[in-house]
Amino acid sequence: MSKQYLLTTYNKNINLNNRVVMAPMTRSRADNEGRVPTDDLQGLYYEQRASAGLIITEGSQVSADAVGYINTPGIYSDEQLEGWKNVTKRVHDKGGKIFIQLWHVGRMSHPDFHNGALPLSASAINPNDKSYTPEGFKDTVTPKEMTIEDIKTAVRDFRNAAANSVKAGFDGVEIHSSNGYLFHQFFNGTSNKRTDNYGGSIENKARFFFEVLDAIKEVIPQEKIGARFNPSLHGLFGMTMDEDTIPTFEYIIKKLNDYNLAYVHLSEPFTDVSEIPYAVSEIAKHFRPLYNGTLMINTDFDQDKGNKIIEEGHADLVAYGKLYISNPDLVERLENNLDLAEWDGDTFYTTGAKGYTDYPKASK
Ligand SMILES: Cc1cc2nc3c(=O)[nH]c(=O)nc-3n(C[C@H](O)[C@H](O)[C@H](O)COP(=O)(O)O)c2cc1C
Repeated sequence: MSKQYLLTTYNKNINLNNRVVMAPMTRSRADNEGRVPTDDLQGLYYEQRASAGLIITEGSQVSADAVGYINTPGIYSDEQLEGWKNVTKRVHDKGGKIFIQLWHVGRMSHPDFHNGALPLSASAINPNDKSYTPEGFKDTVTPKEMTIEDIKTAVRDFRNAAANSVKAGFDGVEIHSSNGYLFHQFFNGTSNKRTDNYGGSIENKARFFFEVLDAIKEVIPQEKIGARFNPSLHGLFGMTMDEDTIPTFEYIIKKLNDYNLAYVHLSEPFTDVSEIPYAVSEIAKHFRPLYNGTLMINTDFDQDKGNKIIEEGHADLVAYGKLYISNPDLVERLENNLDLAEWDGDTFYTTGAKGYTDYPKASK
């Protein structure tokens, strides 16, 4: 067996026991009035996965405006903060590290989540997708274009959520600037048609993200902040690539060299983009030379691919999504070269323990 780069420690801004990261995954188990993480569900689930070098939680709303899915937890109320305190304690007691993913879905929502009000976005452009509401799937609507006041409110909400994250005991925060959600809606030319300082040029389209980053770093050291991007997302979550898409991400990622972040987290394309104009098919290889800090890569990695990408120097850390749903002891399985269990897609977003906390550890 060749060297397991995944299992080596990592010490740059964050000290990790290994380079295996649990990717952020919405599991829709906060099915209580306040969308609060509970001890028996989220507490146990994350504790079971504490041997990861780093856990990144599911996307967690920074405000009530930020909601777009049923039963997703938040990090804006006192009650939610208390719930997360217990989660971080359980992970820390097992020697793990945990960041929280800070989320605003923007237009990937529905008025049913906002007492009939329109969801917010960069521009009033319908993503023409579906929203999973308490009454089932409904068509998305044309959102409200955010006013300057709305943008300032969102910046404050992210800052407040980051401050709550520190109080809740998280080791850091990840800005969810990925996957077609609010920041991505500002980055992308098909969802951002603004004519003010937040639209038009690449610099303008990135402005909101950097305002949020600058606000967050007032309440949490930048060495504890990560940011996630999915540069070649196309045909999903309302995103369409254009000639500015990759240059926009190049600008953002290069500019992040002026910061000293915990990491930049990139996704390889979610779909085959080899025929898509303007898309880049190999994300880590394309962006690694542009960024001096820690690069985390994700999407469709297994043991061999994970070890290889670190060995070749295209990434420092590898985030595993679906494999972490079905293999709570993923690190131990990699250590012992054990088989990996298959996940059950039918229980990704259902309620209760089934398909959530009932995946067993491997028997050696
Ligand atoms: C059930 C599920 C929920 C997800 N929720 C989130 C999320 O809340 N935030 C996010 O950034 N990505 C989310 N993702 C994307 C994953 O983080 C990851 O990018 C994707 O699963 C590809 O990695 P994999 O091939 O290792 O599974 C989700 C994926 C799955 C399968």
